[in-house]
Amino acid sequence: MPDKPLKVGLAGLGTVGGALARLMAARRDDFVARTGRSPEIVAFSARSDGDRALPLEGAVFFADPVTMAEKADIDVFVELIGGAEGPAYAAVKAALARGVPVVTANKAMLAAHGLELAEMAERSGVSLAYEAAVGGGVPVIKTLREALAGNRILRVSGILNGTCNYILSRMETERLPFDVCLKEAQRLGYAEADPTFDVGGFDTAHKLSILASLAFGARIDAGAVTVEGIETITLADLAAADDLGFRIKLLGVAARTDHGVEQRVHPTMIAKSSALAQTMGVLNAVTIDGDAVGALTLIGPGAGGAATASAVAADLVDLARGAVAPAFGRPVGALVEAERASLQRHEGGYYVRLSVLDKPGSLAAIARRMADRAISMESIVQKRAGGDDAAYVSVALITHATTETAIREALALTLQDGVVRDKPQLIRIERA
Ligand SMILES: NC(=O)c1ccc[n+]([C@@H]2O[C@H](COP(=O)([O-])OP(=O)(O)OC[C@H]3O[C@@H](n4cnc5c(N)ncnc54)[C@H](OP(=O)(O)O)[C@@H]3O)[C@@H](O)[C@H]2O)c1
Repeated sequence: MPDKPLKVGLAGLGTVGGALARLMAARRDDFVARTGRSPEIVAFSARSDGDRALPLEGAVFFADPVTMAEKADIDVFVELIGGAEGPAYAAVKAALARGVPVVTANKAMLAAHGLELAEMAERSGVSLAYEAAVGGGVPVIKTLREALAGNRILRVSGILNGTCNYILSRMETERLPFDVCLKEAQRLGYAEADPTFDVGGFDTAHKLSILASLAFGARIDAGAVTVEGIETITLADLAAADDLGFRIKLLGVAARTDHGVEQRVHPTMIAKSSALAQTMGVLNAVTIDGDAVGALTLIGPGAGGAATASAVAADLVDLARGAVAPAFGRPVGALVEAERASLQRHEGGYYVRLSVLDKPGSLAAIARRMADRAISMESIVQKRAGGDDAAYVSVALITHATTETAIREALALTLQDGVVRDKPQLIRIERA
């Protein structure tokens, strides 16, 4: 017989909360064998108390999760409501203030308030655990915080949003435009009715800011993340990437550079042979470079009820064993203020697609502007007519490593020269 139960207060019974209730019931014996404690959901909160056919017999319903966090007789508060502010944030603070450990999957709340919440947890001597907040079922938090603790992490790059990866994968394999693939993702439940948060890169940015903190022992700095979404990616870009041996992925990249820590989210060209490039559909993947271990990649389901509940359950097992680890790998007071590396100083190769006036000297004019900024070109390909106007052709070029400032200045000058129309498409190339 187990010594004592682990009394769980579960706030949120949606996709993840419902799956967690089912998983805890199904895996109860294993949980007991691992921890010596029997997990019991003794209290729950949702907006309505209707029957959801979940194994919650005997659990007390709270209409207000904050009241549950303040009053219920629980050993752990599991927050699966979502949202950076509002009831999730208020309830988590109430639990921590009372010395009740918290397990959450809420990346938006952690990106905005992670340090404050970690400090509260430290003061109370309890855990703030959040394996499910980044990568869903992919155990990237524990990998960075524990398994790679012997490393100086140099770089973390990943596909952290399944919606974007699904859309880009479908665009590439089915040769369907962005809008069509977005609608399909919405129909299948992979994308919200308002998809901005996902396709605009903001969800990836939240997750990246958490990974950067863990990787570099730094205070979370969500405001430091440069964010560009996938809305401007066209079939022409995907075809050009394919011709050149690349795939386009929305990557979150956090890296140590000579100028500080870079944190950026943007569509990226990566070699087709890389593990990240081969991650298709709704899957997530994260590549971590450590000085001792080298590069390793984790790939798996980044969302979905069961996969995400699997990560929440792992946090509950840790907690039942009495493990208390600093939320971001070290006490908040020991986290450094990372110097922000300006994107203007980013160095790397670039893919540029231009709509170029089809007359002698146009390409030479572009090449001259590039040379003026010491940019050397690896390839330049005139593709096909640039839309409905026969006077223009589409030109795709790849540069060798240069700086963001240099490429942007060169492109601004080609626009001024009148040989190019429309805003150029610019996609960074990443070694991965
Ligand atoms: N879904 C995924 O695949 C996934 C993956 C990774 C992380 N996450 C994170 O997990 C969290 C939960 O996501 P989800 O997809 O499970 O959300 P969801 O399906 O929308 O469920 C949210 C739950 O919260 C409840 N809720 C909302 N407002 C409430 C309030 N004021 N008081 C009490 N309960 C309230 C809802 O109650 P009702 O049921 O009564 O409406 C619902 O049960 C979010 O932080 C999300 O970012 C989700």
